[in-house]
Amino acid sequence: MPELSKIKKLIIIEENLRKCSLCAISKSRTNLVFGTGNPDTKLMFIGEAPGRDEDLQGKPFVGRAGQLLTKIIESIGIDREEVYIANILKCRPPGNRPPEPGEINNCEQFLKQQIEIIRPEIICPLGRIASQALLKTQTQISKLRGNSFTYENIKLIPTYHPAYLLRNPYDKIKVWEDMKIIKETLEGPPLEQIPPAKKNEENQKTD
Ligand code: URA
Repeated sequence: MPELSKIKKLIIIEENLRKCSLCAISKSRTNLVFGTGNPDTKLMFIGEAPGRDEDLQGKPFVGRAGQLLTKIIESIGIDREEVYIANILKCRPPGNRPPEPGEINNCEQFLKQQIEIIRPEIICPLGRIASQALLKTQTQISKLRGNSFTYENIKLIPTYHPAYLLRNPYDKIKVWEDMKIIKETLEGPPLEQIPPAKKNEENQKTD
């Protein structure tokens, strides 16, 4: 049987997610926010959860934070359409409250499948919730950013969430630094050369 294309595989996961009712927020959402962008990308961004605008449009990062994310991506000479953008949660938590641990846990299987299909060279989690959820840590985002890690053998470079930057613009400089590292990494030798991580080395700092 021929391999299903990445797009077809992603559609199947999205359809399965539509039927998911593991969390109460699956009932209160307007739209599922699965993810958008190029599934053949080398760079994937993962945010926290849909907000009001995203819930209404069914697309990630379309509000004010999304406009800033577009500028952040463009700052390293990449078009937003070239990358893939998703969230830890696919349904909006009411009132934009932070995702609950149980919700993160329920949604993880779908995100893992999404990442497995896209297999980017770099994952950039945006902010505390996404970084802590992927790295299974409680370490503060201010300590995580500026370092690189591995997640399922994929390089993971965390940075601040654009919504945080809207409230704390003086930290934008740190995000530009993180983006420079991402750009240099993308332009460096192919990342397939990173040796497979042993089980107990997963999620360890690589720099
Ligand atoms: N914040 C997020 O974390 N994700 C979105 O899609 C929008 C805002």
